[in-house]
Amino acid sequence: MNTETYNSKIKRIILSEEEIKSRIAEVGTELSREYSGKPLLLISILNGAFVFMADFCRSLTIPCEIAFMRTRSYYSRTVSTGNVEILMDVTQNLSDYHVIIVEDIIDTGRTLSAVVELLMERSPLSLKVVTLLDKPSRREMGFTADIALFTIPDLFVIGYGLDCGEKYRNLPYIAEYAE
Ligand code: IMP
Ligand code: MG
Repeated sequence: MNTETYNSKIKRIILSEEEIKSRIAEVGTELSREYSGKPLLLISILNGAFVFMADFCRSLTIPCEIAFMRTRSYYSRTVSTGNVEILMDVTQNLSDYHVIIVEDIIDTGRTLSAVVELLMERSPLSLKVVTLLDKPSRREMGFTADIALFTIPDLFVIGYGLDCGEKYRNLPYIAEYAE
C-alpha cells in the first residue's frame, strides 16, 4: 500500500489525542482512589488495547501489575455465545488480585463475554471492565463495560491501537476508516 492510498483511508478524526488523554486522566484519578491499598492487576487483550494500556496504566498513581492475553474469535452465525480461543493466557493467580480488564473496543461483546466468564472462574477478588470505546448499537451479547471512556456510533474506526488489516495501529488519534 503506498502512502497516498494509506492516507486516503483516514476519513476523519473522531477523537483527538487531547480528548483521549484528558478522559484517561479523569478515569485514572477515579480508579486510583477506588483501588488504593488493593492488589491490582491490569489485564489487556492484545493487540488492539496495547496503546490504551500504556496510557491508562500511566494515569494510575497507585501500585499495579500488568498482564496480557491474546484471543482469537470465531464468528460463526450458528453459535449464539462467544466462541473465543485463548492463544496466550495470563500466569498470575487471580485469586490474589482485584482485576481490571483493559480493552480497546466492545463491538458485538463476544470477546469480552468469553474472557470475563473465563477469568471469573479463577475467582479474582473483583473484576471490572474498562474499555476505551463502546459501540453499543452493534451488541449481540448482553454485555456492558463497567467504564466506557467514549461511546461511538456504528463506524469502523482505526488508530490508537485499533487496526484495519493490521495497519493504522500507530495513529495517535482515533479516526473513521473510509471503506
Ligand atoms: P467483539 O467481540 O465483537 O466485541 O470484538 C471486539 C474486537 O473486534 C475488538 O477488540 C477489536 O479488535 C475488533 N473491532 C471491533 N470494532 C472495531 C473497529 O471499529 N475497528 C477496529 N477493530 C474493531
Ligand atoms: Mg481487541
